[in-house]
This record gives sequence, C-alpha cells and structure tokens, in this order.
Amino acid sequence: MVSYKELGLVNSREIFAKAVKGGYAVPAFNFNNMEQMQSIIQACVETKSPVILQVSKGARQYANQTLLRYMAQGAVEYAKELGYNIPIVLHLDHGDSYELCVSCIELGFSSVMIDGSSLPYEENVALTKKVVEYAHKYDVTVEGELGVLAGVEDEVCAEAHTYTRPEEVEDFVKKTGVDSLAISIGTSHGAYKFKPGQKPEIRLDILHEIEKRIPGFPIVLHGSSSVPQDIVAQINHYGGALKDSIGIPEDQLREASKSAVCKINIDSDGRLAMTGAIRKVFAEKPAEFDPRKYLGPARDALKELYMHKVRNVLGSENKA
Ligand code: G3H
Ligand code: 13P
Ligand code: ZN
Repeated sequence: MVSYKELGLVNSREIFAKAVKGGYAVPAFNFNNMEQMQSIIQACVETKSPVILQVSKGARQYANQTLLRYMAQGAVEYAKELGYNIPIVLHLDHGDSYELCVSCIELGFSSVMIDGSSLPYEENVALTKKVVEYAHKYDVTVEGELGVLAGVEDEVCAEAHTYTRPEEVEDFVKKTGVDSLAISIGTSHGAYKFKPGQKPEIRLDILHEIEKRIPGFPIVLHGSSSVPQDIVAQINHYGGALKDSIGIPEDQLREASKSAVCKINIDSDGRLAMTGAIRKVFAEKPAEFDPRKYLGPARDALKELYMHKVRNVLGSENKA
C-alpha cells in the first residue's frame, strides 16, 4: 500500500472548496504517456494552476498502472524543478468497479471516480457508498455520477443522454458520502458531440436547480472538450479525415465554472491538438523519423492548448 501523501500528491477536497468559493474550475486533463504529462505540468506550472492528472481504465491498460503511478510521482518533482509547487491530484477517471478503485488507492491515487451512472439508482448508491467507505479510510476523495452522458465512456457507449434529475442529488450525496458529483447537463464524451447546425447547450438551468438543492457542493463536468475548429481543419488539411463536429462552446464552460462546477474534464481536445501537430510534421517533413521531432511539436501544441484552457475557460490561473 502506497499513500499518495508520501508521493507529494493531494486529494481534491481543499482545491475544490477553493474553486467553488473562487468561481473557477480545476482542470482535469487525461494522460496516457510522458509527453501528455509533461505538457500538462508545464502548462499548469507556468499558469500557476492546480491540476488533476486523470487516468482512465484504458490508460492503465495502455501505459501500465505502475508506470503511470511513478509518472505522477515524477510530475510532483518535475513541477518543483520547473519552479512552482502546484497542487497535483492523481485521479481515476470513470472507475467501473469497487476492485478497480481499491487497486488505484493502493497504488497511490489521491482521488477516484466510481461511475455507477448506468446502474439503477439504488445500485449506484450502494456501489458508490462502498467505494467511499474504503477511500475515506485513506483520506482519498471520491467522485460519483448521476445522469448519463451521451458518447463513449471507456467501454460504455450511450446513444443519448439522460439529464441529471435535481430531485435525486441531495439524497445521493447524503446516502453515499461522495466528495463531488459529476452531472449530465448537455455535455458528452468524444470529438463528435454535435453535428454542424445543431446548437450545443449546457443546461445551466438544471445546474442552478442542482446547486439550490446542494449549495456549495463540488460539481464536475465531463465531456467538456470544445473541438477547436482550427485544429480539426489542420488535421484534415494534413491528410486527416475527421467528420464535421462541434463541441461545447468555451464561453458556456466559462460561465458554468463560475458556479459550483469545480472540475472540468478535457481529453478529446488534447487528442486533437497532438494529432494536428504530428500530422503537420509528417506532411511537411516526410523523411523525418526521429520521434522527438514529431512528439516534441505535439507536446508544444498540447501545452499551448492547456494554457488557453486554464486562462480562458476554467479561470484557474494563479489559483495554485
Ligand atoms: O471519458 C473518457 C476519457 O476521455 C478517457 O477515454 O477511456 O479512451 O482513455 P479512454
Ligand atoms: P471529452 O471527450 O469531451 O474531452 O471528455 C473527457 C472526459 O469527460 C473524461 O472523463
Ligand atoms: Zn468522462
């Protein structure tokens, strides 16, 4: 058993309390490899933002759980070396079982999500409560979810979303003891959220209704990529074949982050930024075969994207 405290990581309790009070959201960026981790840390140190390093079940399978854990430990030291000791949370994204959450906690995660959102309500309550009881013994914070987002959540794929029912949140939070709650108010996972012509809309009315029932309680938004049109165009210009798609408008996310929304999850936009940069190198320098020559520019593009998110979308600059 490794405690996250020995690794220099923090749980989400204090940074969420500050974010709710301060009217901003903490970025939760997914990572699967060294370059993504480096750019997240570089961007958040440079902007002095707290950060949540997010690991999905798929990331664990891809990169190896032990390596990811040591990378997060390294991230703490790397941030200090870059000159600023920002709070760093290591979080399991979309945990789908009690066993997976336990395994992550034993390996040094400071926060876990148990996603029982596809289960019947009472089963979601029972599973979430069980994870909370274990996690809290080690001062690890837990995110639960109510309502179903459209799109792909690891192996789970939902065609349509079901908005979170405000009348359920108070009971859920009380019965489970969760530290934060992910809700479904119109965001969705992946790069194909809305077709051109559709009007993306975060249901701020539902968010405010939820806030009224659980005042000041930390709320999480998944599926919050904005699918930057210039990056999509760049990918397609350099030989990609992405379909037209629209994401969540950044001004709506900025608005939401002024409320009790204190964690915003962004993965797809980073995937797009990396892909755009790598395609550009491959198209312009087809003779290049040193991975540093295309992963380096990809890392720079990611850093730029993350700094933009921190400054202009989440509002977490200088909040570390
Ligand atoms: O919500 C899902 C995240 O974007 C993680 O995706 O399961 O493909 O790693 P993944
Ligand atoms: P995006 O696919 O919109 O980036 O959402 C990521 C996410 O919610 C990770 O849990
Ligand atoms: Zn998610």
